[in-house]
Amino acid sequence: MDVVCSGVVLLMILPIAPVAVAAAKESAVNLLEAEALRKSGWWGDTTTATNVSAHCHWFGIICNDAGSVTEILLPVYGIYGELTNFSFSSFRNLVRLDLSRNELYGAIPHQIGALSKLTYLNLSSNHLRGELPSSLINLTHLAQLDISVNWIDSLIPPGIGNLTSLVALDLSHNYFVGSIPPTLGHLSNLASVNLSNNILNGTIPSALCRLTNLSQLDISFNYNVGGSLPEEIGQLKSLIELKLSSNQFYGSIPPTLGHLSKLTSLDLRGNELYGAIPHQICALSKLAYLDLSFNELEGELPSSLVNLTQLALLDVSSNLIESLIPPGIGNLTNLATLDLSHNSFWGLISPTLGHLSNLDSLDLSNNHLNGTIPLALFNLTNLFRLDIQWNQIYGSIPSEIGNLQIFKYLHLGSNRLTGQIPPTLGNLTALVNLKLPYNHISGSIPSEIGNLRYLESLDLGSNRLTGQIPPTLGNLTALAILDLSSNQISGSLPLGLSDITSLQILDLSSNQIRGPIPTQFVDDMLKPYRPIFTLNLSHNILSGTVPSSLIQLSDVDLSYNALEGELPCDLGFQFGSERFVGNRDLRYNSTLCGASPSVMGNHRHHTLYYIIVLGVPLLVFAITGGLVIYICCFKKVEVELMDNKHGDIFRIWNYDGHMAYEDIIKATNDFDVSYCIGTGGYGSVYRARLPSGKVVALKKLHRLEGENPNFDKSFRNEADMLSKIRHRNIVKLFGFCLHKRCMFLIYEYMDRGSLFCILRDETEAVELDWVKRVNLIKGIASALSYLHHDCDPPIIHRDVSSNNILLNSQLEATLSDFGTARILELDSSNQTVIAGTFGYMAPELAYTMVVTEKSDVYSFGVVVLETLFGEHPREFLSCISSQPNEPIMLKDLLDARLPPPTNPLVVRNLVLATALALDCVNANPKCRPTMQQVVNRFEVGRREPTRPLHTIAVNQLVSPPVLSLPDQTYTVV
Ligand SMILES: *[C@@H]1O[C@H](CO)[C@@H](O)[C@H](O)[C@H]1NC(C)=O
Ligand SMILES: *[C@@H]1O[C@H](CO)[C@@H](O)[C@H](O)[C@H]1NC(C)=O
Ligand SMILES: *[C@@H]1O[C@H](CO)[C@@H](O)[C@H](O)[C@H]1NC(C)=O
Repeated sequence: MDVVCSGVVLLMILPIAPVAVAAAKESAVNLLEAEALRKSGWWGDTTTATNVSAHCHWFGIICNDAGSVTEILLPVYGIYGELTNFSFSSFRNLVRLDLSRNELYGAIPHQIGALSKLTYLNLSSNHLRGELPSSLINLTHLAQLDISVNWIDSLIPPGIGNLTSLVALDLSHNYFVGSIPPTLGHLSNLASVNLSNNILNGTIPSALCRLTNLSQLDISFNYNVGGSLPEEIGQLKSLIELKLSSNQFYGSIPPTLGHLSKLTSLDLRGNELYGAIPHQICALSKLAYLDLSFNELEGELPSSLVNLTQLALLDVSSNLIESLIPPGIGNLTNLATLDLSHNSFWGLISPTLGHLSNLDSLDLSNNHLNGTIPLALFNLTNLFRLDIQWNQIYGSIPSEIGNLQIFKYLHLGSNRLTGQIPPTLGNLTALVNLKLPYNHISGSIPSEIGNLRYLESLDLGSNRLTGQIPPTLGNLTALAILDLSSNQISGSLPLGLSDITSLQILDLSSNQIRGPIPTQFVDDMLKPYRPIFTLNLSHNILSGTVPSSLIQLSDVDLSYNALEGELPCDLGFQFGSERFVGNRDLRYNSTLCGASPSVMGNHRHHTLYYIIVLGVPLLVFAITGGLVIYICCFKKVEVELMDNKHGDIFRIWNYDGHMAYEDIIKATNDFDVSYCIGTGGYGSVYRARLPSGKVVALKKLHRLEGENPNFDKSFRNEADMLSKIRHRNIVKLFGFCLHKRCMFLIYEYMDRGSLFCILRDETEAVELDWVKRVNLIKGIASALSYLHHDCDPPIIHRDVSSNNILLNSQLEATLSDFGTARILELDSSNQTVIAGTFGYMAPELAYTMVVTEKSDVYSFGVVVLETLFGEHPREFLSCISSQPNEPIMLKDLLDARLPPPTNPLVVRNLVLATALALDCVNANPKCRPTMQQVVNRFEVGRREPTRPLHTIAVNQLVSPPVLSLPDQTYTVV
């Protein structure tokens, strides 16, 4: 090239020679650039450039007329690697650099400061860590800096105040610590600052209030930024959006906010603000989104609030407001969400609410409202949620309620409602949740309720209902909770109810139900596999005997009925005798049952602990959490309009190919049901064939998880951990997508589904022969040992169960759902969350919420027994812990669908696995082996001799001290 160039120079006539020299220099620069681009490897094995400017035609490269690179735009390009290998100093003319949504890791190199002409730098949505380099301050032309969604954990360098050209700064979704540097106040061109979702502390520097061009300021979700809101904030006259939610701001809301006449969105949710809501806020005529919830605001709602006619969301919930609902509220005709809940609103529910024709969610719960439900509410045809529970509303439920056909959530509980349940409720076919408990509702349950086929929860408890349970309730195929307790319902147990396969809690206690508990009723209940089923029939007039198959439920209460005969021993032992007291003719012989009353008592204690220790916090969480989640959910409509820029995160790793968000949407036809291969508590699993031909599994999470503010951060934490895990028995997570509307995890696809399903399929269970089962057990042991002992910090799976062990086409097992369990438990309003782990949960979790790796060991033990027995070892566990005198032969326990093993090596492994599993399920965590010990025992055990299978009793395999519970003695009488 040089030769060609000098040739050019030679041919030039003198007067234009300086230009030619410049051209030569340019070419040299261009070559340097081409070389730097090639070395980056970002374009794969691009062959060496044949002419000077070939690289200018590479994807994402833009050159100037002289052939020098001015823009490198490679968002979502699958770049995996560190930036340290990139020769920044070669690009003197670079103006724009966009490497967002790739898989860059490591630190942002100091050399980036060499890009002295840069105006646009976007490194968002990568895995970058460490500090922001101080050389950033060399980028004096930078107008836009976006480093959001990374793992940067440093102070915000004060030097950032030297980037005086900066217009937009986004450092959100990182781990920035310390306080907001006052030097930001020097950046007089700044229009948008997003520092949300970091761990910043300190106060808002008053210097920031000089930024009169600022239109967006978001400091939300730092949890630690606090102090009082500076009066000077009123100087930010250009502000359109101000988000300070989820921090520790205290003191009163400065009236100067009323000067921000362009403001459309004000979010002060989740702080410690007190005092009255300043009426000056009502001057913000453009305000569309006003969230003051979860503070300590008091006094009345300013009456001029009703002038904010642009409002689409008004949320003042969870404050100390004592006020009437201003009648003028009917002027706010753009309102979609109105939440006044958890305050002290009093007086009537203003009928003018009926003018809010765009309203879709109205929450007035937990106030002191009285009067009747205004008929006008039922003109609100967009309403899908109405919550007025915990007030003092009286009168009857108007039959006009049947007009609201898109209704999903109706909560009228804990009021003073009288009259009957209007049969028109049966028109609300979209209803998911119908709660009317703790009222004075009388009459019978209208059979039309049976039309509500999407109903998941029906709570009519503690009313004055009479008559029989309509058989149509058996049509409620989505029902999970049915509570009709504390009424005066008569008749017999309707067979159809126990048939509802999704039902988890059936509470008919304290009624006047008579007749026997039909065997059919119990059999139907046991037909589907339900990890949890609670049946409460106490305080009725049931007669006949107690069906022994009830033992398979997770909780049963039959006390105070007219049951008779002999109570089966195991029932009394399992649920405690008090669950059967008050039945005059029911005999229970604790002595014959081989357990002393004290044992019974202890056992009862256990179950109670479960309920108290787990139940109460979960309940509290379900109430508060549910509320928080709910509010976020409906806020979202607005948020999305205003901030859809950072709503989504799409990350891919561990994957040897290109995969884009769009591919996935296309491959599943936007998550069409026809691609769904399973549905669980947290979400649904889809199968997607990507354009490359590869098949992946997608687990799409229920929408609500994404609305939980805590979720995102922990989600990304866990995902970061997962990205580093490589083990052949741990399912590969390729990536995830966090998007407001659509959140999913991308997994390696395991053809054969879960161990749980395979064991329940007669053919597949046989295919999973003894050798494969032993390998499966060893594989999972090795995976857990890896997590507990080879990862730093150690990782506790927390949800080891046969549901979470997936098998590939060779029936090799991998542990899955790893790490998500813990996060997903945050949303405890979802009852299946508890259910999923129930039969596998270590008993100490009933006493302490502290999870150690020993709880995984316990769950592992249960899974091993399940694998060997072919079914959940529920009964076995309760029976072995009572130290039976009769030997229990191992051969009788092994899955009978497989021929008994004959190969001595296999027998030895099965015996070993059983013995280890028994150690693992020891009630005392300290006595359980570590997973490392389990793996070692398998190694060593290969050399141990073994006896013929038919001579081996399980009792002999139990190490003697192993089964004794701490602080508890079993007395065998
Ligand atoms: C930043 O600018 C300073 C002063 O001009 C210079 O010494 C330094 O090398 C620059 N940093 C980089 C990384 O180019
Ligand atoms: C950064 O700004 C401060 C004050 O605004 C100034 O004193 C300092 O010299 C600047 N630094 C550089 C490297 O320009
Ligand atoms: C703010 O955070 C920094 C860095 O984590 C810490 O050193 C400092 O003590 C914190 N300040 C306050 C007031 O909490």
